[in-house]
Amino acid sequence: MNQATAINTEVNAVDLELKVKEMYRDVAEDPNGDFHFEMGRVMAERLGYPATELDDIPAEAIASFAGVGYYFDLAKLKPGERVIDLGSGSGMDTFFAALQVGQDGNVVGIDMTDAQLNKSSQLRDRTGFVNVTYQKAYIQSVPEKDESFDAVISNGVVNLAPDKSKVFKEAARLLKPGGRLALADIVTERQLPGDITCDATLWAACIGGALQQDDYIAAIEAAGLVIEHVQDNPEYHFISESAEWATRTFGVKSVSILARKPA
Ligand SMILES: C[S@@+](CC[C@H](N)C(=O)[O-])C[C@H]1O[C@@H](n2cnc3c(N)ncnc32)[C@H](O)[C@@H]1O
Repeated sequence: MNQATAINTEVNAVDLELKVKEMYRDVAEDPNGDFHFEMGRVMAERLGYPATELDDIPAEAIASFAGVGYYFDLAKLKPGERVIDLGSGSGMDTFFAALQVGQDGNVVGIDMTDAQLNKSSQLRDRTGFVNVTYQKAYIQSVPEKDESFDAVISNGVVNLAPDKSKVFKEAARLLKPGGRLALADIVTERQLPGDITCDATLWAACIGGALQQDDYIAAIEAAGLVIEHVQDNPEYHFISESAEWATRTFGVKSVSILARKPA
């Protein structure tokens, strides 16, 4: 793998973090605002989330859902399991996972944006999802013990991290032997040019930071995980004109991936 594609040193990391926090504060507080990407229940159902299970999740969490694909069919969460969601946003996937692991299991959501954590925590407290906890942290440095989770999940987040390799190493560290990483994320068919990868606003919109698909998969494998399944999610599409242009030109797309830590 080309190191420069796994560790992007061109985007200004401080500027990027500010832009990402600003954008996802707005996602939490004003989901009906103007974004490059679609959000909410209609999209969630189109991606494959079953309506009956969405009915049991707080509607406000679904309204601010900014994921890019469905991967729970790959994750196959079981009652009693421990799950961690990297970049939990307003909490939709943590609640979805909590329904699957039940009272004997638990779900930890990690996010760096206060407004997202405030919203998901308030919804959790209001609706009694007692098996969900949230922590303010970076996904590349998670304050949880080695080998303490059965599954690491993530939706539309790793593309936002300047160093994807670090995030996948962290996922591998957190997983028990035999545990799985199941995620949906944005990748590209062709390498993005510098004027896009240096644009912090396009990064924050889940485009500028997207790795070429082979490099993305190689970064997961380099962390010691074994890829079991990769699928395109053609139901996902960006909605702004500039984002659609990038999609057409560079094959920016959503994929769902399942990878396992060797037992
Ligand atoms: C596209 S949203 C997806 C949120 C959620 N997974 C969902 O499906 O709605 C990205 C989320 O990741 C968080 N995030 C981005 N980069 C992060 C990082 N390096 N560490 C922790 N959280 C991060 C943002 O604050 C935001 O809430």
